[in-house]
Amino acid sequence: MQITFYGHASLGLTIGDTHILVDPFITGNPKASHIDIDSLSADFILVTHAHQDHILDVEAIAKRTGAVVVSNYEIATHYGNLGIENHPMNHGGHWEFEFGTVKYVNAIHTSSFPDGSYGGQPGGFVIEGEHKNIYIAGDTALTMDMKLIPMRTPLDLAILPIGDNFTMGIEDAITASDFVECDKVLGYHFDTFGYIEIDHEAAKRKFFDANKDLMLLAIGESITL
Ligand code: NI
Ligand code: MN
Repeated sequence: MQITFYGHASLGLTIGDTHILVDPFITGNPKASHIDIDSLSADFILVTHAHQDHILDVEAIAKRTGAVVVSNYEIATHYGNLGIENHPMNHGGHWEFEFGTVKYVNAIHTSSFPDGSYGGQPGGFVIEGEHKNIYIAGDTALTMDMKLIPMRTPLDLAILPIGDNFTMGIEDAITASDFVECDKVLGYHFDTFGYIEIDHEAAKRKFFDANKDLMLLAIGESITL
């Protein structure tokens, strides 16, 4: 499984031959101006919640690529009404896709569309694919529900928000890493806006002192699990 960071909470996953984008917010992120959304492949687009900093480029990419939007019922239906193929889910449910299994799990956050309309309840994804399992938390507070994840799925990587203010910060992300029983963490949802700027070295040191590994990728950089 290859994972590419496209800035903010935007990710690209390659699992086998399948290309998956998560929460594409690229054209609205000045730090990601070197990423051309027309160059991105997508068979599926996973959307954690309806906030603009997670959906901005969903419509354009889905219409160009024909990607299937996977999200909660309200968000999937929203894109269905725009003529976009979609797969609705809801919390606690999982589905076996061609690339692996996706489960939509709880997040503590909100989920209105940019126009204020209802975007359902926010979530995260647990993805089991190609013998590697990852948890993409979405925007969330630290929540005890995270303890449920390793009861079903042993994780190889946890992708956690670390920017604070709108989501968990560093200390709570370290505790989240304990809750999901995964010491290997990719941080996201930081630095994009003034409210969520972090000190990278201090963040990495706090994880290191807790015997954990925090990865922070440059925008456009990839890792392989
Ligand atoms: Ni949000
Ligand atoms: Mn956000």
